[in-house]
Amino acid sequence: MIELRAVSKTVMSGGDPLVILHPLDLIVPAGQTIAIVGPSGSGKSTLLGLMAGLDEPTTGDIIVDGTEITAMSEDAVARLRGEKIGFVFQFFHLMPSLTALENVMVPIELRGGRDAAERGRALLGEVGLTGRAHHYPSQLSGGEQQRVALARALANDPPILLADEPTGNLDTENGRHVIDLLFAVHDRRDTTLVLVTHDVELAERADVRLHLRDGRIARREEAGRSVAVTG
Ligand SMILES: Nc1ncnc2c1ncn2[C@@H]1O[C@H](COP(=O)(O)OP(=O)(O)O)[C@@H](O)[C@H]1O
Ligand SMILES: [Mg+2]
Repeated sequence: MIELRAVSKTVMSGGDPLVILHPLDLIVPAGQTIAIVGPSGSGKSTLLGLMAGLDEPTTGDIIVDGTEITAMSEDAVARLRGEKIGFVFQFFHLMPSLTALENVMVPIELRGGRDAAERGRALLGEVGLTGRAHHYPSQLSGGEQQRVALARALANDPPILLADEPTGNLDTENGRHVIDLLFAVHDRRDTTLVLVTHDVELAERADVRLHLRDGRIARREEAGRSVAVTG
């Protein structure tokens, strides 16, 4: 579960404060899938980065699986992230000098996990890339690179998966494959899944759609229910 209480983000821009996120409350229960949608610049990536502890809010508390990350040191948050959160980026962010398998092994080795190679191979199998283990990112298509990135995000079997426009840089067919994999992973592992997306098809598959506008939650939609949020 992820809980945000009165979380806001303001940055200084050219000497003036710029509100990126107005104070918002949000609970993502364990096992839920939620899509964050909204125009470019509405604060989606900022919100996701806060949930991952990659960024600190200006106000408010963020609680991940019962732990208040906003009260922790940067190192402690990084450790918690390694254990609890897998993150998938729009532009894959694979290490170019490492093979697909080595990329997937990195987070396992960072946590001192044994059998990293064996586990890495199993994860590549899970995303349908058994035959690509020894390819470098430059030798893989965009869709394949994103599947490697997904396998890497799953390396430590995290209960939470966050994805920022995971299909934003893929063609329709590869995008659909990655979407199918994300939801297959959710079904199999009961992962909490928070997706930022422009992709209507992808958003439709989530339990909840959260519409951001100008740093505010403008609307929340879930099965049979659509609520405009004012505030
Ligand atoms: N560190 C920063 N300094 C100044 N402005 C920022 C910073 N980070 C984000 N922004 C601005 O905040 C707004 C929201 O950004 P972002 O969360 O990336 O939006 P989205 O992912 O919805 O496109 C944008 O206008 C962006 O330019
Ligand atoms: Mg963004």
